[in-house]
Amino acid sequence: MAEHPPYPVGLRLTGRRVVVLGGGQVAQRRLPALIKAGADVHLVSPEATPSVEAMADAGEITWHRRPYAEGDLADAWYALIATSDPDANTAASAEAEAHRVWCVRSDDADRATAWTPATGHSEGVTVAVLTTDARGRDPRHTAAVRDAVVEGLRDGTLVAPHFRTRTAGVALVGGGPGDPDLITVRGRRLLAEADVVIADRLGPRDLLAELPPHVEVIDAAKIPYGRYMAQEAINNALVEHAKQGKSVVRLKGGDPYVFGRGMEELHALTEAGIPCTVVPGISSSISVPGAAGIPVTHRGVAHEFTVVSGHVAPDDERSLVDWPSLAKLTGTLVILMGVDKIGRIAETLVAHGKSPDTPVALVQEGTTSSQRRVDATLATVAETVVAEDVKPPAVIVVGDVVAVGPDGTAA
Ligand SMILES: C[S@@+](CC[C@H](N)C(=O)[O-])C[C@H]1O[C@@H](n2cnc3c(N)ncnc32)[C@H](O)[C@@H]1O
Repeated sequence: MAEHPPYPVGLRLTGRRVVVLGGGQVAQRRLPALIKAGADVHLVSPEATPSVEAMADAGEITWHRRPYAEGDLADAWYALIATSDPDANTAASAEAEAHRVWCVRSDDADRATAWTPATGHSEGVTVAVLTTDARGRDPRHTAAVRDAVVEGLRDGTLVAPHFRTRTAGVALVGGGPGDPDLITVRGRRLLAEADVVIADRLGPRDLLAELPPHVEVIDAAKIPYGRYMAQEAINNALVEHAKQGKSVVRLKGGDPYVFGRGMEELHALTEAGIPCTVVPGISSSISVPGAAGIPVTHRGVAHEFTVVSGHVAPDDERSLVDWPSLAKLTGTLVILMGVDKIGRIAETLVAHGKSPDTPVALVQEGTTSSQRRVDATLATVAETVVAEDVKPPAVIVVGDVVAVGPDGTAA
């Protein structure tokens, strides 16, 4: 049998009788996929693991609490033989052969008429890998091939464009704080499939260098905006490229909806009738402090964290931030876009009751190779920013979590 490779096929088992003999670890591993395939699964076994028992209790399989008996496989379309009794396995295998039921044997693959492939799934595709080498089966290699293909499809390093289902449109992708490894798997795959990428200055710029030459990469900051506002010009560029039937990725820093104007772009696209998906991203507000060793919450230190924009000063009438109330909170304050205004912000917080000794950390270009952390207090932060020449982009953290060391104690 080993001289010929197995013939791969996808069984459509919906409503069809599948018999599983043995309720141990093998059944536990295989049953979920049979249930997912809609099979009418009958388990024959005196015992079962708690997980298998739970599947029976939930009505996902029918459990016959007894050992295998001649005739169990008569009406089956497919069988999995995995009891701990070699005689029962051999007898069941002979019955399967007699009734022409394709049958997997966990104890003796060479005597089985079917092999279970190593399987994985990615976006509507099932990857099934079988060893066909007559010199011997190597299940770990087979699983490693499966993992490599599935991972590659998920993270976009294995590019397999859609031809029939691929639709033009825009994906607003949160690219994370900057480290190219911190984009989501979905974001990376969409990026790998894009015809056009409109990218912000913040975010994983290194990923752009990996794109194939036919991909048009547009720097959002350089889109000419003539009589339009910059954001309108970006919206128009998204709409125009999508209207040409292209797959467009709008690559944004952090998360599209955290001070990212993601909803404005979504509105513009919806208005123009362009399909749009939004892919969340890891926001710098949490990840950048974390990358510098600062947890935004810590048990016994902070039970809340508040993320605010510091792009307008507290006394500016355009500010929507209630700084006096923030000064009264005991938790962590995370300020984005606040480097220029941090002196006025610190003054306001102190004026409304926050201690001038409250620790402050500024984390510049977090998660990138240029990351640096500068520490101060509310009393000293204004002069520290100047003395240390802290530049945007930086995340500013105010609160006692800044002093929590790696040993878990507040310094
Ligand atoms: C327009 S907001 C965009 C925030 C983004 N949508 C997010 O969720 O992270 C830009 C601000 O995010 C912060 N920021 C983003 N990436 C950063 C990074 N890698 N290091 C430090 N600050 C960063 C800075 O405060 C910067 O001024």
